[in-house]
Amino acid sequence: MENKFGVPYEGFAEFARKVAAQGAVLIQNEGSVLPFQEKEKVAVFGRCQIDYYRSGTGSGGAVHVPYAVNLIEGLKNSGKVQLNDELLQTYKEWISKHPFDNGGGGWAAEPWNQEEMPLTTSLCEEAAEHSNKAIIVIGRTAGEDKDNADAQGSYRLTEKEQNMIDKVTDSFEDTVVLLNVPGIIDMSWLQKKYRNPIKTVIYAWHGGMEGGNAIADVLTGKVTPSGKLADSIAYNIEDYPSTKNYGDSLQNLYEEDIYVGYRYFETFAPERVMYEFGFGLSYTQFSITVKEAQIKNAQEKDTLIHLPVLVKNTGDTYSGKEVVQIYVSAPQGKLGKPAKVLAGYQKTKLLAPGESQEMTIDVPITGLASYDDSGVTGHKSCYVLEAGEYQFFAGNSVRNTEHVMIAGNTGYVLAKTQVVEELSEALAPVQKFSVMKPGKRRTDGSYELIYGEVAVETTSLRDKILKNLPESFPVTGDRGIHLQDVADGKANIKDFVAQLSAEDMAMMVRGEGMSNPLVTPGTASAFGGVTEKLYDYGIPFACCADGPSGIRMEGGLNATQVPIGTLLSATWDDSLIEEMYVFEGKELLRNEVDVLLGPGLNLRRNPLNGRNFEYFSEDPLLTGQMAAAIVRGVMAGGCNATLKHFACNSQEKDRFQVEAVVSERAIRELYLKGFEIAIKNSDANCVMTAYSPINGHYSASNYDLNTTILRKEWGFKGIVMTDWWGRMNDVIEGGEPNHQQTASMIRAQNDLFMVVNNSGAPVNPMGDDTMEALKNGKLTIGELQRNIMNICSFLIHTPVFERKPEYGGRVVNFTPKAVLPDEKRSGEVITLGETGEIDVSSAGKTIILNVEKEVVYLVEVDISSNAPRIAQATTNLLLNGEVMGTLQCAGTEGRWFRQKISAIGLKKGYYELALQELSPGLVLKNMYLKAK
Ligand code: BGC
Repeated sequence: MENKFGVPYEGFAEFARKVAAQGAVLIQNEGSVLPFQEKEKVAVFGRCQIDYYRSGTGSGGAVHVPYAVNLIEGLKNSGKVQLNDELLQTYKEWISKHPFDNGGGGWAAEPWNQEEMPLTTSLCEEAAEHSNKAIIVIGRTAGEDKDNADAQGSYRLTEKEQNMIDKVTDSFEDTVVLLNVPGIIDMSWLQKKYRNPIKTVIYAWHGGMEGGNAIADVLTGKVTPSGKLADSIAYNIEDYPSTKNYGDSLQNLYEEDIYVGYRYFETFAPERVMYEFGFGLSYTQFSITVKEAQIKNAQEKDTLIHLPVLVKNTGDTYSGKEVVQIYVSAPQGKLGKPAKVLAGYQKTKLLAPGESQEMTIDVPITGLASYDDSGVTGHKSCYVLEAGEYQFFAGNSVRNTEHVMIAGNTGYVLAKTQVVEELSEALAPVQKFSVMKPGKRRTDGSYELIYGEVAVETTSLRDKILKNLPESFPVTGDRGIHLQDVADGKANIKDFVAQLSAEDMAMMVRGEGMSNPLVTPGTASAFGGVTEKLYDYGIPFACCADGPSGIRMEGGLNATQVPIGTLLSATWDDSLIEEMYVFEGKELLRNEVDVLLGPGLNLRRNPLNGRNFEYFSEDPLLTGQMAAAIVRGVMAGGCNATLKHFACNSQEKDRFQVEAVVSERAIRELYLKGFEIAIKNSDANCVMTAYSPINGHYSASNYDLNTTILRKEWGFKGIVMTDWWGRMNDVIEGGEPNHQQTASMIRAQNDLFMVVNNSGAPVNPMGDDTMEALKNGKLTIGELQRNIMNICSFLIHTPVFERKPEYGGRVVNFTPKAVLPDEKRSGEVITLGETGEIDVSSAGKTIILNVEKEVVYLVEVDISSNAPRIAQATTNLLLNGEVMGTLQCAGTEGRWFRQKISAIGLKKGYYELALQELSPGLVLKNMYLKAK
């Protein structure tokens, strides 16, 4: 393959290892079982010591890696501990008879856990004779299109796992439970009485391809753990207030309103928390002292609370890092507030024993404002700071904090309510329902839980849309203006776009994919100049690829896999994450990918969301800062990143239809806040909408989401794309969704429909209604022109605009076999002429092609997929063992598509054509070859 496609970027994996070690969260370590000492004898239990998870499944995990390091390899590489080889051998033999179960390889088919090897007392006793410490590995995965379940093998331990813990703790005094999991799991097993209590528990998460090395660094003390929980761990899944309404197919009531995670627990139910938000131990100890905080710019809009903090490593053996967290308790006022909210944080550098670091954390007062969606404060649709005292706390978790004096007072006092931002009603619910509110304060500082009525929609969406239609300008036809002229400042974008006909623009709205031959093999989409005519105007076709944890190139090109989102946020170290994603940006550039389809930053509303592993936290500040860091990093590396899934993608089950019924306040203060922070703290220029509807309006055709808030309020200047094969409903009326309502999508200012099949943009294979709506007045040409301007302005800043590849994609050249392979001489040989039609319907069958003179063929194949509607399936077509094209699509509901595959250069000779099934579900019919 030309270029350096599939070659991981130098130094990236090493950096990812550093990050993976920084995110491990030590939640218990009695008697200092960790770190292991030199030559300590360690017995490792649990099959995931070998089948160590590096990521979750689906688009956020499907990275082809050159290698992956498991726990055992990591521990061996450390050279520090003596592993119990006999026990390891027993596991290896058992695994050879009970291989990893991938569920058959289909989309969302992999089980959450793997069968565990049953343990006998004698095996454990024997292991304990030779080893003094034990590690028990508990492994889980999770992924797209499937939620976790409050069941054994998912959120809970299986009986075999519980039995493993029972048996190992019977024989070992010192046990470490290592959780190789995508997110928090039920921890009730820790409360059980064991013969020897479990001393140490560490959340290692999924650390990417260097995960085994990274966690070995932590276990052996090369790295002192410094990760902190980005979610609250409650005693029971029922304790999370969203659990009650979780999992319905059609509607999810966000009754808990703004009381998600610690905002709920600290306000209403502190006793239900087992490990609090922000918590995580170290091998050393720290003191955190806040000298008196000051108020800066007191008379101005950008008032800051300036907190000088001194952190000291008070231990005497280990160096380590600490995370200083600032929480604020705002006055209850008329709106009601969470007891505490994270308002700032900062991680120290590595502090040697006795070493101190001074740091300052600035908290902007405006960031503490609440959104009044009902008008109860007298300021409807405004962010307000209610009158009263704002108290500040500093510490290393939401619980372990000290109260901070502010300029000699117990808090920052506002004499009267202040309006921070005047906005307008947007995304408000229509349906009436009750939402949680704090009642009377209890003696322990928490509040009684009461309910109030949600504020419902009072304004007309129709009026808002129709009054704000963008200018339409006359279509001029080709005036010889190229997109390069716009980039060079010689022409303006309006004159450029005015040249395009309505048909050209309707085509451009259709992104094509997956595995489009115009772009890097095995990636998610090509969009922009997808037709020759658009291309001739100088509009390039850009390439986007999944996903957050590394570049997904189906078909087999390698990439570096980094730790999952859960682990990244547990580092609480934005600059470290930013630095790592600079490598990602460079690797994307090397692979000619223009846009990474990540980070995912939906709020972790409930631990059962299957996709939590890609996301960051139950807290919007931590979420937004992490996402901003990733975008800045990818962009500094030369590429672009996509903030997804905008918004409220809180549930995977029925994600393409389940409606979030949620207050405007919760939407703004929680579910959009991470996106807002990310956009305001980076140059983010790409957003992907979610599959699901919010208060009746599908995200892809949601005007308030994509226009009122994203662009008008936040000033976002980039592009918005749908999720793959997303659906929309009527932009004004709501109603039933389908793939056809692109007019509503365009009107909402979601610029791109992702995706029609490859070569489908000119023929409208989805039957979208853009052209029809222009004719019947449901869409103006100005709206379409505005979206095309968004796309073209974006493309000017993508790497492909510099690269200027030829239209038609690259020609992949193959070396022939000079003679017909012996074993094939009696079989069918197809001699190719100017054109060829070959039946490729039976996977696994090899076909011999005879080429008589050198030729370049354009290849197309008829494909269909019997997989469910948005499940993805992938197959490679091989020529002499090399990939000639990757076929990839979602379930097609029985329809057949002719898919452009690639352009191949063949010399005289013989070629073996074969199919390689990478995931089940795709069915093929004929392959068509046409000399170029
Ligand atoms: C996922 C997206 C992903 C897209 C392309 C969808 O199933 O929800 O996050 O980027 O596929 O792979």
